[in-house]
Amino acid sequence: MISNDNVLEVQDLKTHFYTSRGVVKAVDGVSFALKRGEALGLVGESGCGKSITCFSLIRLVPRPAGRIVGGKVLLEGEDLLTKNEKEMTKIRGKRITMILQDPMMSLNPVFTIGEQITETIRVHQKLGKMEIWEKVKEMLRLVRIPSPEVRMREYPHQMSGGMRQRISGAIALSCQPSVLIADEATTALDVTIQAQFLSLFKEIQEQANLSMIVVTHDFGIVARACDRVAVMYAGKIVENAETRELFNNPAHPYTIALLNSLPKMEMKVDTLYSIEGQPPELHALPPGCSFAPRCSHVMEICQREYPPQKEVAPGHFARCWLKG
Ligand SMILES: Nc1ncnc2c1ncn2[C@@H]1O[C@H](COP(=O)(O)OP(=O)(O)OP(=O)(O)O)[C@@H](O)[C@H]1O
Ligand SMILES: [Mg+2]
Repeated sequence: MISNDNVLEVQDLKTHFYTSRGVVKAVDGVSFALKRGEALGLVGESGCGKSITCFSLIRLVPRPAGRIVGGKVLLEGEDLLTKNEKEMTKIRGKRITMILQDPMMSLNPVFTIGEQITETIRVHQKLGKMEIWEKVKEMLRLVRIPSPEVRMREYPHQMSGGMRQRISGAIALSCQPSVLIADEATTALDVTIQAQFLSLFKEIQEQANLSMIVVTHDFGIVARACDRVAVMYAGKIVENAETRELFNNPAHPYTIALLNSLPKMEMKVDTLYSIEGQPPELHALPPGCSFAPRCSHVMEICQREYPPQKEVAPGHFARCWLKG
C-alpha cells in the first residue's frame, strides 16, 4: 500500500562531470519524491542521466570526474549529501540499495551464493551463524530459487542468467532496505524472464511495502511494475505523473514522442526509442528548453527560457511552455 509519507525526497540534485570537453551536466536540477510502498519508473533516452541520478542517490558517482554539486537527497528526512563516507557505508546497502545492470558484476565468481548473501547480512545485522543461514535460505525461497539448500552451496556460473538476476535481487533485499533502485536490472535477459523478474519484484515490493526506483527503457515494464513515472531529458525531469495518467494524458511533447515511438509488437529493448533528431550534448546545452531543437511545437520563448514546472493536473507535473 502506498502511504502518504515520502521515504525519499530529492531536491534540485545536480551532478556534473568535469571533462576536457567542458562541464557535463548529467543531472541538472532533478527533484522528485518517492512514497513508502511506491514504485517509480525513470525513463528517457540513453545518456539523459538516469544512471547518474541513481548513483548520486547512493553517493557512488564515478570519481574523479563526477561530483555532486548541489541539492538534497532526503532519505527518511536525513540528507545523505551531508553524510561522510563512514556514515554512508552504514546507509548504503542497508537503507538504500541498488541492483546493477549486469548481475555478474555484483556477484563474485569465486564465492558461493550462500557465502555472498551471508556476507551482506553479516555486515548489516547482528545475527548468529545458524540464524544467518536460515535467513539466506529464506531469501532464496523468496526470490523463487528452487532447492535453496543445494543452490546456496553453488557458484554464480552454475546458475542461469535469470537465477543470477534473482540472487542479486535477494542480496539487495536481504537487508530490508527502505529504497531499492533497479537500474536496467533486466536488460541482459530475454523478455519473458524480464517480465517474470519484474512481476516477482513487484509482488515482494508490495508485501514488504518497499519503495522502488526502476530505471528502464521499456514502457511495458513501466505499465506493469510502476505506480508513477518520471521522464528524463538532458539531465532534467520533464514530466512526472501517475502511470495511468501519463499514458492517457501525456503533457510534454518529448513524452508524447516517446510513447508514439513504441513498437506495436514486442521488440528488442534497444530499439524501443527512435524519435527524430539527437539528444543535445550535455556539456553544450542550448539556452532555453533542451528539447526545443527537436520539438514540433517549438515557440519563440522555448529557445530563450527553460520552462518552469507546472502542475497540469493533480499530481501531474510537466516542464513545457505549451502548458503555460
Ligand atoms: N565518467 C563519466 N565522465 C564523463 N561523463 C560521464 C561519465 N559517466 C556518465 N557521463 C555522462 O553523463 C550523462 C548521463 O549518463 P547516464 O549513464 O546517467 O545515462 P543513462 O540515462 O543512464 O543512459 P543509458 O540509458 O544508456 O543507461 C551522459 O551524457 C554521459 O556521457
Ligand atoms: Mg544507465
